[in-house]
Amino acid sequence: MRILFLGDVVGRSGRDAVVAGLPGLKSALKADLVVVNGENASHGFGLAPDMARAILAAGADVITLGNHAWDRKEIIPFLEQEPRVIRPANFPPGTPGRGAAVVEVPGNRRALVVNVMGRLFMDALDDPFRAVQAEIQKHRLGAGGTIQASLVDVHAEASSEKSAFGHSFDGLVSLVVGTHTHTPTADHQVLPGGTAYMTDAGMCGDYDSVIGMQKGGAALRFWRKMPGERLAPAEGPATLCGVWVETDDATGLATRIEPVRQGGRLSQALPVV
Ligand SMILES: [Fe+2]
Ligand SMILES: [Fe+2]
Repeated sequence: MRILFLGDVVGRSGRDAVVAGLPGLKSALKADLVVVNGENASHGFGLAPDMARAILAAGADVITLGNHAWDRKEIIPFLEQEPRVIRPANFPPGTPGRGAAVVEVPGNRRALVVNVMGRLFMDALDDPFRAVQAEIQKHRLGAGGTIQASLVDVHAEASSEKSAFGHSFDGLVSLVVGTHTHTPTADHQVLPGGTAYMTDAGMCGDYDSVIGMQKGGAALRFWRKMPGERLAPAEGPATLCGVWVETDDATGLATRIEPVRQGGRLSQALPVV
């Protein structure tokens, strides 16, 4: 199975790039499964339902979220109706929405997508490691199993926590990919047990910015320790950032992982498929 994962979509710039670019990228990369983190799609904060619909219509099979999951209140009833949009699984019991999705993939295959949030330098939530363990234990990975691929979006600040996630689930899931820092890392690899891993996918947004937000106001917050005006997303052309993974349906494990960076200011990277 070929999986395309795109990192946090930030504001109009990121949204427009995903809506315009994802259909072509999906076909060029022959992606069977597309997952997009949408937590910053609405003006940098949260995901409004119409924007979720636009990202799904562009070719995403599942949208994941993060610490900005609840910034747009309209998402709460929407999450109850739309199983393809998920929020971190380690919110306390009773939280609206779901933390995992199983989707049909062409070729009579199924894939599991799980979203969790880290706990280091972030709001305290339930244990994300045990949350992922509980989700994957509901399924059997590989040929003849209930799913042929599985992907975990670990939305976390600390690279150490994300690395620990990758190694903890090495050999048990197809891909562990980090989000939230909006900065792509260069450590994409297939771990020894066969799990594809990348500490952070980066964002789909304008990189002439401070992690997607207009640079002047964002920088000023570091110079003066007082709240300034509300941050707004940068509006220049976005780079679509993410990762592409090929898995073996027999095992559900990864055979190849490549970075994806298309458009905007970052150096370009597209796997040859
Ligand atoms: Fe984000
Ligand atoms: Fe985040």
